[in-house]
Amino acid sequence: MPGRRRVAVLISGAGSNMAALIAAGQAADAPFEVVLVISNNPDAGGLAIAEAAGIPALTIDHRPYGKDRAAHEQAIAAMLDEYGVEVVAMAGYMRLLTPWLVSRWAGRMLNIHPSLLPLYPGLDPHARAIAAGDSEAGCTVHLVTEGVDEGPILGQARVPVQGDDTPETLADRVRLAEHALYPAVLSEFCAVRTDRPD
Ligand code: GAR
Repeated sequence: MPGRRRVAVLISGAGSNMAALIAAGQAADAPFEVVLVISNNPDAGGLAIAEAAGIPALTIDHRPYGKDRAAHEQAIAAMLDEYGVEVVAMAGYMRLLTPWLVSRWAGRMLNIHPSLLPLYPGLDPHARAIAAGDSEAGCTVHLVTEGVDEGPILGQARVPVQGDDTPETLADRVRLAEHALYPAVLSEFCAVRTDRPD
């Protein structure tokens, strides 16, 4: 369908959010389609899921680049350009980005984080929510800015914390909420954005 935003998904692992985005983008009236998946981890389970869905799935391993984050990001940026990507969705991409890539994609790069930001940015949000005695946890989709998990919030979903939750059981429940939230927020974002990249 012409006019659909061309979305790339960046992953590092299982790719369950990526799979939800791919499926949503295949709906006849979707305002976006996933045209590319990039993983920094060659063993990411999401790569096979993307391939099975017929989506080009590239590994751009960060390890050969050593400490040269800029060179690794330049390789990613080149592929985003090659595939005509208009919006980038980070989905369990576990690398910090440099200001270079963030500024290049400013306003066109989204991330999902498994907490009710601004609570618990960074690592181990589920364990921190449980340790704090929170009655609610959840997930947030936000625009990516230079600060970690700090960008403008586009949407959130809340889930209850149960008395016997472990970080793992809470993560599983939050992830189900992520699978509904991320496609909905990305759809809304792509439906209202008409600007195209440079
Ligand atoms: C998701 O819960 C996502 O929110 C989280 O990693 C998981 C990836 O799962 N992301 C972060 O923690 C980023 N700070 P998935 O690979 O199955 O989508």
